[in-house]
Amino acid sequence: MLSPLYFDTLRDLIYENTGIVFDERKKYFVENRVREHMEELNVTSLKDYIYRLRTDKNVLRDFISKITVNETYFYREYYHLRVLAKLVQTENFGFPVKVLSLPCSTGEEPYSIAIVLSEVLENPLKFEITGVDIDRNALLKAREGVYGRRSVSKLPAEYLRKYFEELEGSRWRVKDTLRRRVRFYEGNILDRLFMKGLGKFHYVFCKNLLIYFDERARIQAINNLYDVTVDGGYLFLGHAESVSHSSALFEPVKIEGTIVYRKAGEEEEDEW
Ligand SMILES: C[S@@+](CC[C@H](N)C(=O)[O-])C[C@H]1O[C@@H](n2cnc3c(N)ncnc32)[C@H](O)[C@@H]1O
Repeated sequence: MLSPLYFDTLRDLIYENTGIVFDERKKYFVENRVREHMEELNVTSLKDYIYRLRTDKNVLRDFISKITVNETYFYREYYHLRVLAKLVQTENFGFPVKVLSLPCSTGEEPYSIAIVLSEVLENPLKFEITGVDIDRNALLKAREGVYGRRSVSKLPAEYLRKYFEELEGSRWRVKDTLRRRVRFYEGNILDRLFMKGLGKFHYVFCKNLLIYFDERARIQAINNLYDVTVDGGYLFLGHAESVSHSSALFEPVKIEGTIVYRKAGEEEEDEW
């Protein structure tokens, strides 16, 4: 269905708007999402479809939502949560402890962080968590905070009882006390102005996103993450990701056998 020309056009459009790289091997995946979206929009020609993507921001956002991989679950890569628990007890950034989860997808990561911080800090007013994702449909689910069995399967049963209300049909809703500690925003990690507007965080989780980027987008993302991290703050990346190319910005530190990255201080301006 997608000629090389149309595939290239869509691939460029995805890259420009997300940083995600789709090569030939993903053509079938893109094709399926495009077909589904065209049916929903009742558009029959690819030319018209691409025109809609270019001229209607809502159509573009829905397309982005379709091609993003939202896979996530509670207590994914638990070792990072353990390190966070240790750091908030040993570092002295003051209160509230501020944590950014970007990308947060459907919310499992920021709520997992909220559970860990509730356990460690006891007083929920001592921390604030911000979740950001480019996919507005994922964010709708995140704000709703209702999850099925698969999402909570790695979460200790004790926390499921403590922080969730059980609903019908094997579903659980995050209790309001926890939900209130997490704010969600739609945004692109590559958008410098948007990122600056988020403010500064002591701990930044950016997991399982950079793997989809090329080198150029990765560097841009790390630069933006540098801007939102306080001096001496920590960056947590997924197990397949690193900041090796930007080592001047973040230095790797090993805590409890896990590598996390610590922001190097900003260069001092020469004083006159
Ligand atoms: C696999 S999920 C990762 C969720 C969570 N961090 C985890 O590790 O479980 C990847 C998320 O990245 C989001 N995403 C893709 N491109 C993005 C961008 N340029 N800016 C912000 N989020 C993006 C997708 O919408 C998707 O929800």
